[in-house]
Order: sequence, then C-alpha cells, then structure tokens
Amino acid sequence: MRVRILGSAAGGGFPQWNCNCGNCRGVRDGTIRTRARTQSSIAASGDGQRWVLFNASPDILQQIREFPALQPGDRLRTTAIAAIVLIDAQIDHTTGLLMLREHDKPLELWCTEPVFQDLTTGNPVLKVLEHFAGVRRHQLPLSDDGFRIPGIEGLRFVACALSSKAPPYSPHRDRPQPGDNIGVTIVDERSGKRLFYAPGLGQIEPPVRDAMHSAHCVLVDGTCWSDDELVRLGVSAKRARDIGHLPQSGPGGMIEQLGGLPPGTRRILIHINNTNPILNEDSSEHRELARHGIEVSYDGMEISL
Ligand code: MLT
Ligand code: MN
Ligand code: ZN
Repeated sequence: MRVRILGSAAGGGFPQWNCNCGNCRGVRDGTIRTRARTQSSIAASGDGQRWVLFNASPDILQQIREFPALQPGDRLRTTAIAAIVLIDAQIDHTTGLLMLREHDKPLELWCTEPVFQDLTTGNPVLKVLEHFAGVRRHQLPLSDDGFRIPGIEGLRFVACALSSKAPPYSPHRDRPQPGDNIGVTIVDERSGKRLFYAPGLGQIEPPVRDAMHSAHCVLVDGTCWSDDELVRLGVSAKRARDIGHLPQSGPGGMIEQLGGLPPGTRRILIHINNTNPILNEDSSEHRELARHGIEVSYDGMEISL
C-alpha cells in the first residue's frame, strides 16, 4: 500500500491564520526549523492509481494541487479519488466535501451513522451537497470483518469505535455514541501489512490497543504535547483530554502508550496542533520523541507498506 500524508496539522492548520504563538510566528518569519502544514487528511492506494481519502480537509484543493496523482488528467473532468472515508464529523475533516461539489457524479462517502447524523443536522454539509454532485453514502461498518471499497484494489479496511469527542455542533455532543470517532486499520491484502490511522484519540481502550499492536505502522493523534497546553497559552479553557486528544507527555500519555508496542512498529504522529512544541525541530520535545523512535508527520510524507 501507499499512504500519502495530505495534511498533518490539526484544525486551524500551521500557521493558523489568527495565531501569533511561538510556532505560528516562527514558521511565518522563518525563524524556527519547521514546515507549514495543512489540515488533517491522508490518501491511501493499493495500486497507485485509485485513491481513497481519509477525511476531506478545508485545505483539500491545495492538497490535490500538491499531489498530482489525485488528478490524472485522462479526461476533461475526472479524479483519482475513488471514495472518501470520514473518521468523524469535525470541521477540519469534512469541510473539503464542499470543495468537491463539481464532481460529475455523487461522491462515494463512507461514514458511520452518528457522523451521518451530524452532517445532516448540526453541520448539514450533505444537505448542501444535494444541490450539487451529492453523495452516495455507504454505511461504514464497525466490525472486525472490515469492508472493501469498490475501485480500491488490494486494500481492506477495518474500523473501530474509539473515545474522542463529537463536534460542538453535534446534537449528541454530550451523549457519546459508538462511531462518533473511529480509527481505521488499512490492510494490504497481498503483503498482509497493516497501518492503523487515528488522528483523534482521547483514550486507548482495548480494541484500539489491539489494533495498534497488530499494525506495522501507527499514524496516531499528535494534537498536543501536554494536557494543559491550550490553557497555559491562554487560547482555550479546555485541556487536550477534554477535547478528545491524548497528549504525548505525562503519565499514560501517547509516548508511554507507543512505548508498549512491539519493537518493529513504526510510530508516527499526525493531526498536530499549531501550539505543539514538537513542530519546532530544535525543541527538546522534538528530540524526546526522536529518542523514543517516534516520527512527526509532515505534508507530502509517504509511507509504503
Ligand atoms: C479537533 O480535532 O479537536 C479539531 O481539530 C478542532 C477543530 O477543527 O476545530
Ligand atoms: Mn481535528
Ligand atoms: Zn499558533
């Protein structure tokens, strides 16, 4: 399989338009060693021809421009995007659907029932799209049997429900439903290799732990370094865990969790918030990750398994 990181930042991107934190200012001024990043999405392919997108980022048009494989140019109007899988209904993962409204047929969209509800009520983008290309919605199964996506050769997908957070506009924001947020294992049927993708991960419960343990590569929540990062900076009253993101540092944090994986597992962080010190490649936090064998993803990074 080939996996391409289209966008490695959390909501807001890096730099965030209205932010002057040390990272955002530093990347704008070129005074820190880092790279700008767009918002959260990856693409996966079994044959390098047809791709499935995981999430449709607000930055999707820029992401497509920067990855020509998604625009094959063999007909007047066409795309190599065979389908889109949503891992939740958050703005940073769904707004890009509106940017794909010019498609010449309904978009093949895979999502769970709670996500479908959110996208037809609290954030009714699917209703808006009915006036354009529309979507053909496929019920995303949360079972170990997994599912295949027509047009995507050689890959199988297994989704698991996980604890994170439904978006603020979700009618069930305070009544979590299984499937508000999911993690997905992408399985290459020829090589048997498995990649686990979960950009929003509040807690590592047994099904998630199992999926991480059986993966050759994990691409997981890298939103915040510390639980109180946003509070200390004064940008939010909420802690990372309150918004469904397990911080990297501290007891039970992501570094500790990743430390329990089999030695050969490749460990990569994604969905990195612009406030996170790991974005600065000269920071002690970035070095600490390196010491633990943990990589920080960037836009354009490719993983072949
Ligand atoms: C989140 O995952 O918590 C989001 O990035 C928030 C947002 O997009 O506003
Ligand atoms: Mn997000
Ligand atoms: Zn910032």
